[in-house]
Amino acid sequence: MGDYEKFKKDVLSLIGLDLSCYKEKQMKRRIESLISRNRYKSFDDYFAAIKKDKELFNEFINYLTINVSEFYRNPIQWNTLEKDIIPELMKKSRKLTVWSSASSTGEEPYSLVMLLSKFYNLKDIKVMATDIDMGAIEKAKMGVYSEKSLKSLPKEFQSNYFEKIGNSYKVKDEVKRCVDFKQMNLLKDRYPSNCDLILCRNVLIYFTEEAKDNIYKNFNNALVKNGVLFVGSTEQIIMPERYNFKSSKMFFYEKTN
Ligand SMILES: C[S@@+](CC[C@H](N)C(=O)[O-])C[C@H]1O[C@@H](n2cnc3c(N)ncnc32)[C@H](O)[C@@H]1O
Repeated sequence: MGDYEKFKKDVLSLIGLDLSCYKEKQMKRRIESLISRNRYKSFDDYFAAIKKDKELFNEFINYLTINVSEFYRNPIQWNTLEKDIIPELMKKSRKLTVWSSASSTGEEPYSLVMLLSKFYNLKDIKVMATDIDMGAIEKAKMGVYSEKSLKSLPKEFQSNYFEKIGNSYKVKDEVKRCVDFKQMNLLKDRYPSNCDLILCRNVLIYFTEEAKDNIYKNFNNALVKNGVLFVGSTEQIIMPERYNFKSSKMFFYEKTN
């Protein structure tokens, strides 16, 4: 296949995405298989092609980013969020600043709005939602989902907050209005500040230890004292004290300093 190092540099200068921050074996294998599928012979040929062909370029981004998501992914953790984490956060701050930091096609931030609606009026809820993938953000803004992606969502939310259109479910505008979607690269863009709760789920697994190290530090800076970081179910932080976090419940980390 040839020169992956050069390909990484080319991609970085073309789209600002540093592939070196992603686990190398996994990422390289994925890209090689995409290149073979498209019948290119080398990284160089493929790069020349994505530079010219918009559709091929979009396919590359889409393939890289792995947008798999669902509403209330790992429902037990959403239960913990509802019963323990949110009530605790609300003791300190009446209005919560909440950020879904790899929001993909929208299932996660919309789940957050629905959960928060148990505590607040919809008109008082704002969730920031960011992802590197503009294609995913566009889908999120449309807010149309299959029945399968709703399987873990409490039934009351399904009936209150969706319109059924054919076989699909469309998120109601009153929920959509609560989410601000924006493109953001966790590896290089500026992080928001004063967050009470940050979700970063099912993306850290793709990053190298070095990249994660920086991301944890940035999340710590982005949180208020005692704010909480909620991670995916294979993404526990080893020795969270290193980043001034303490584990409060499984998969939830509280900022100590
Ligand atoms: C598997 S999805 C996770 C979606 C959701 N958080 C969940 O747990 O269901 C991973 C998301 O991370 C995004 N992503 C990958 N690299 C990123 C980066 N450097 N900055 C921001 N988002 C990134 C992808 O575009 C993708 O939408």
